[in-house]
Amino acid sequence: MQTSMQTLGVDLGERSYPIHIGPGLLDQAGLALPHLRQRRVVIVTNTTVGPLYLERLSQALRSAGVQVDSVVLPDGEAYKNWQTLNTIFDALLGQRAERRTTLIALGGGVIGDLTGFAAACYQRGMPFMQAPTTLLAQVDSSVGGKTGINHPLGKNMIGAFHQPSLVLADTDTLDSLPDRELSAGLAEVIKYGLIRDADFLAWLEANMDRLRARDTQALIHAIHRSCQHKAEVVAADEREAGQRALLNLGHTFGHAIEAGMGYGAWLHGEAVAAGTMLAADLSRRMGLLDQAQVERMAELFRRAGLPTVAPDLGEAAYMGAMGIDKKVEGGRMRFVLLKRLGEAFVSADYDPAALRATLAGAVARA
Ligand code: NAD
Ligand code: GLY
Repeated sequence: MQTSMQTLGVDLGERSYPIHIGPGLLDQAGLALPHLRQRRVVIVTNTTVGPLYLERLSQALRSAGVQVDSVVLPDGEAYKNWQTLNTIFDALLGQRAERRTTLIALGGGVIGDLTGFAAACYQRGMPFMQAPTTLLAQVDSSVGGKTGINHPLGKNMIGAFHQPSLVLADTDTLDSLPDRELSAGLAEVIKYGLIRDADFLAWLEANMDRLRARDTQALIHAIHRSCQHKAEVVAADEREAGQRALLNLGHTFGHAIEAGMGYGAWLHGEAVAAGTMLAADLSRRMGLLDQAQVERMAELFRRAGLPTVAPDLGEAAYMGAMGIDKKVEGGRMRFVLLKRLGEAFVSADYDPAALRATLAGAVARA
């Protein structure tokens, strides 16, 4: 069956932008041209994605008369730091990039977050585009303008809101993605079902095998639906004054897992899956979910190829890491909890005894 491109928009007034989803988009420079402020781009990628897709994207843009430079960074979450960010600035200055030059992030969420942050800072702000090549980046990180780097004491703690001018999700790039990375992306897809779309959750349960087999139609549907959710939430609450925090289901625990285990040991999506099961356990202990609902969630994560049991960091390490979470207000932690499968809320009003029991349970089960 012929698969055509799907387009949706993120509605943010004068900073609105389209998200294009479909096969072969890296070859379609025409989609990018209307969003360039000058016929000049710098593509930021890494040593894994560069050899696969940099030449294709560069060639398409050059054929359309665009001057293309590039920066190739080392690959990995462990490199999402100041030093790597500085490598981008070195390249931009060395190449005499200008304020109207566009940065293009070609890669997964790590490249997207680094590139977006570099674009937010260079000459006090330059335009950038996202060309996400992982499922996680296509369903989540490329949309919404959260950019940044990790600090040894806390995940994503240094950064800026800076919206891209275009998201170009070429679904063909998912063909080369390792299975473990595909599963990591499914964690964020399942998240949308859990926090705001029970019908989508049921669709995921019915279609998980197709998604893991990389059925193109199923993947495009999942990416499109996920981006619709992300776009709606971001349009309503760009700077996370309220409902955007719901997108952090499982992330408070998950970020503690990522930092505690050493960045890169657990993939972000894996940490989110195990962290979401901790949030489910806390929700159950507070009388919000029943055991059958928790088990239904675990079954879906397992079928997605994801871990459902968090590692044994110890209660003190979890509490320490979670105390640096961006949702902390007035020194008090806040958690995204589930009211039911398909509805979440943010609460500072959690039961500390239930939280300790959840963390003790995680430690005991690891
Ligand atoms: P990643 O960027 O590390 O990519 C995963 C791996 O796949 C890397 O080794 C990468 O080089 C490789 N890869 C990428 N595309 C490939 C392809 N097409 N074929 C083969 N290999 C490919 O990880 P990720 O899961 O994409 O992103 C995780 C990051 O995103 C985390 O740092 C997380 O904090 C961040 N994130 C940000 C947001 C946001 O809103 N800004 C949201 C969610 C996650
Ligand atoms: N991934 C969480 C957010 O964009 O808000």
